[in-house]
Parts: sequence; C-alpha cells; structure tokens
Amino acid sequence: MQIFLDTAEVDDIRTYAAWGVIDGVTTNPSLIAKSGRVFEEVIAEICEIVDGPISAEVTALDAEGMVAQAEPLAAIHPNVTIKVPLIPEGLKATKVLSGRGIKTNVTLCFSLNQAVLAAKAGATFVSPFIGRLDDRGERGMELIEEIVHAYEQYPEFHTQVLVASVRNADHVRQAALAGADIATIPPKIMDKMVKHDLTDSGLAAFLADWESAKTAEGVAL
Ligand code: E4P
Repeated sequence: MQIFLDTAEVDDIRTYAAWGVIDGVTTNPSLIAKSGRVFEEVIAEICEIVDGPISAEVTALDAEGMVAQAEPLAAIHPNVTIKVPLIPEGLKATKVLSGRGIKTNVTLCFSLNQAVLAAKAGATFVSPFIGRLDDRGERGMELIEEIVHAYEQYPEFHTQVLVASVRNADHVRQAALAGADIATIPPKIMDKMVKHDLTDSGLAAFLADWESAKTAEGVAL
C-alpha cells in the first residue's frame, strides 16, 4: 500500500517525507488556497521534496480548458499528476491527457459507476472521497471495497484506487484491509497512525530498566 500526503503545506511534507514512508502528495484548490501560496510554486517545491506522483488540480470546466491548464502544470515536473473532476468533460480530458502520457487523478468520485468510467478513460488514479460519504450517513469504505473488487475483475483496468477524504486513522486501517492501492492522508492523521500507548509505555519501561541496570552494582553496560 502506498501512502500519499493530502496537504499543500511544504513544512508538513518535509516532516513526514523524512519518515521515509511517503510515496506521493495530493493537493486540491482548497488546500492550495489555504497555503496562501502561488499554485505553480508550491507544486514545484513539493516535487523537490517527494519523488512520487504530485497531484495538481485543474479548475476549468470544459475538457479543452482542462487540457490547456494541465500542460504547463505537467511541464513543471514529470511527477506532476493532473487532477480532474469526475464529470463528462473531466473524462474527456483524462482520455486526452493519458493519451499524451500525462498522469491523471480523477477526483470527486462517489460511486462505483463513476470509478468504472474513470478506469475506461485511462485514469492513472481514481479518488473516491470516503469521508464526505460518511458525513452524509453513507459508508464510504463500502465504496472502496466495491471499486477494489470490481477493478480486480478486469485486467484491462490499470487505474489505481486512491482513498481520499480520509478523516481518521481507522479509515487508513480499513483502506489497507480493503486492498486499496493508496491512501492520501492529512498530516495530523499520520501522527495518529504512528502513536500507540503501549509503544510509549513499553519504551519508557525499557529505558527505565536500562538506566537501573547501568547503575546497579557489578553490571557494566
Ligand atoms: C484528496 O485528493 C482530496 O482532495 C481530499 O482528500 C479531500 O478531503 P476532504 O473531504 O477532507 O476535503
């Protein structure tokens, strides 16, 4: 399973990239706006930090406009992956971009039928938004299970399932159990994933025992 970071905050990206477990980064217009920085500059900087797919989203609503926005973004770095919305014009743009060898991440996916269309269009990644489904009382993870299962039936589908809108560490656990290719994770959830109280108490006990052994008579450590 791959782990992407879901943020446009370069300081956070540096922090978690240093753990050695980050395979890529996803951004969206809201995250870029929150960073307060120039879109292209942030994407270029992220590409210098993480050597893996870096999603940059287009905002045009027609396929021609999406492709026009995608080309300069893709020229920033070979790892730039163009994020397009899962609408008919987005599918058209995905087909054009994948035909040109540009990686795509089809975003705002909320159904298996949408995911099938993304795969048919040649998307590199499809991003089902599980948290937003949970928010309105549906079970987002069921969608992941459906897409993983359906894609497995069709060897001609090469689209990777990128679990998005991750809201808690249990979403990541369930994504791993469902066999999702990738989860894109907000930084604060990375901290929750790594933490376990038994790890902390176990480590404290080991260190305390080590200190007492060092000071005990006749023990040389
Ligand atoms: C990732 O690609 C998405 O942009 C992101 O996960 C959306 O998450 P949200 O539903 O918390 O905004």
